[in-house]
Amino acid sequence: MKLSCFLSTGIIIVAVTPLLMAAMWMDVQPSPKPYQAPVLSPPAGSVPVTGTELVAPDSELRNPVAATGSSLAEGKALYAINCAMCHGESSTKPGPVGTKLKPPPPGLDHALLQKRGDAHIFRAVTFGFGRMPPFKGKLTKQQRWHLVNYLRTRE
Ligand code: HEC
Repeated sequence: MKLSCFLSTGIIIVAVTPLLMAAMWMDVQPSPKPYQAPVLSPPAGSVPVTGTELVAPDSELRNPVAATGSSLAEGKALYAINCAMCHGESSTKPGPVGTKLKPPPPGLDHALLQKRGDAHIFRAVTFGFGRMPPFKGKLTKQQRWHLVNYLRTRE
């Protein structure tokens, strides 16, 4: 009787101790979420599909789209749809939304744009600033470069 009592106490201690220890350390052990670990670095040349858009610094950002006739036509059409309501069809008169803004948005005329590099314009259209809305996610990179090409032809 004594022996079996001793044995069963031993079994209880042996069985319960690891459970107790596990419970004690539960909050300090790493507990990765499904698919969380290990975090592998993406293969070279991968393109992010979520998060913010990566744009090279201005010094490395080159316009990859040649200002061909079709690029200018595309830029002009995109401008009429996305920009003219604020910046104006012509650079001398703001569009219907632009006239409501105080002060009105810049007319994006030749004299202003001459002072701005392609990279600056691309970045302004991509990320927006001040009251200028961002167009990343609304226009593709290609379309934004068409706009840069078109803006260069404005008077
Ligand atoms: C809701 C009105 C609005 C729309 C739409 C809009 N803009 Fe703007 N944009 C502004 C305002 C306002 C500014 C000046 C920023 C400020 O004053 O806060 C500006 C600034 C700019 C600048 C910077 C000029 C500089 O001095 O560097 C560029 C370039 C520009 N916009 C291009 C565009 C293009 C291209 C589109 C269309 C894809 C567009 N904007 C659509 C309101 C608008």
